Amino acid sequence: MNNRSEFSSKLGFVLAAAGSAVGLGNIWRFPYLAAKYGGGLFVLIYILFVVTFGFTVMMVEIAIGRKTKLSPIGAYRALNKKFGFIGIIASLVAYLILPYYSVIGGWVIKYFVTFLTGGAAATAEDGFFVNFISAPIQPIFWQSIFVLLTFAVVLRGVKDGIEKASKILMPVLVVLSLGVAFYSFSLPGAMEGVKYFLIPDFSRFSIQAVLAALGQMFYSLSLAMGVMITYGSYLSKNDDLEKSVKQIEFFDAGIAILAGFMVIPAVFAFSGGNEEALNAGPGLMFVTLPKVFNTMGMSSVIGGVFFLLVLFAALTSAISLMEAAVSTVCDQFKLSRTKSAVIIAITSIVLGIPSSLGNGIWSGFKVLNMAFLDLMDFITNAVFMPVGALLTCIFVGYVIGTKVITDEIKSSSAFKREKVFTVMIKYIAPICIIAILISSILSAFGLIVL
Ligand code: PHE
Repeated sequence: MNNRSEFSSKLGFVLAAAGSAVGLGNIWRFPYLAAKYGGGLFVLIYILFVVTFGFTVMMVEIAIGRKTKLSPIGAYRALNKKFGFIGIIASLVAYLILPYYSVIGGWVIKYFVTFLTGGAAATAEDGFFVNFISAPIQPIFWQSIFVLLTFAVVLRGVKDGIEKASKILMPVLVVLSLGVAFYSFSLPGAMEGVKYFLIPDFSRFSIQAVLAALGQMFYSLSLAMGVMITYGSYLSKNDDLEKSVKQIEFFDAGIAILAGFMVIPAVFAFSGGNEEALNAGPGLMFVTLPKVFNTMGMSSVIGGVFFLLVLFAALTSAISLMEAAVSTVCDQFKLSRTKSAVIIAITSIVLGIPSSLGNGIWSGFKVLNMAFLDLMDFITNAVFMPVGALLTCIFVGYVIGTKVITDEIKSSSAFKREKVFTVMIKYIAPICIIAILISSILSAFGLIVL
């Protein structure tokens, strides 16, 4: 595999990996989780997880990719013949997330286009969101556009596609995020929201908050989905791994916090921080926020800018999911990048259709009381993700040994946090992952409330 593509620089790699990490998870999920689970306290727990487990698992994945220079299935197999199945689980999860992620990406495009064409007031009307997502054709149309945009980038390859797109989209995303956060700060009453979001209230501590933070950390850092292995396989042998991971995490946590700054003060300014508005959950971004923008003035501009930046974030994440799938198909079936990308794009559009229709004409079809999109989200994030992460920890800690990974890391730079890393991967991470797994399964069966 000596002709494998590579990112042209460490910066290119960091921006692409940060692009994968920063996504709907940061802007859509993080603020509503933080709003629900006690603001500052949730943020604090989240950051602790990012710099401990998140750091450990991300180091492992990127090191596995760089060491083997293979996509996930081949990579695990190269390290131990019997363990290719972990790579199969990881790639499958990436492949299954892409379709429903694209459905939500499609909603974001629809909102962006609506704001752009003067429809700001319409998006604030009751029922706008539900009417749109339950329609049969329109959401599928926007979802397909989202997949095609992703495809257009992946088709161009690692350097000319992914790296170039990330180098443009990520800096723009940061600037737009700062702009919207400042706007949100300037609203009357916003400071209460800033306080709620930043000052931890330890009386709100709950096991649910801890588990939600842990799950969010894995999702937001794109871990256990083969994505970081795939991107790691394009990283040059000379680049400093530890520093790269720190920068990716800084980016990811930074944008999550900025997203909190965009959303929570605005919601406070709008509602005075009442419980109902803060507990809006997944609807916070699509339902509450447009209402907030609408009452605050400049709604077309701010709404348009906001949904554009969400779109950029979602695109760079979808690109990484598609790339993980495409590179697996290229490697396993010896197909060209173009053929693999066409196959993945078409099947993703088709597989996304049930997730879209599940909000409308197929809403009668429910498993474990979940619509199809929620079911896919549950299976991938609450079941396969922890299973994949757990297997990876066991694989590294007890099958191949941590030395294989630490040697790879040390081949390009000193490894300052080696001791912490080893303890994490062997003992602490597996226990915590088992806790998320059990709790999410129990909650799906209604045995506990998360
Ligand atoms: N990390 C992305 C987000 O925060 C989602 C994602 C998960 C992307 C797994 C790739 C792999 O939205």
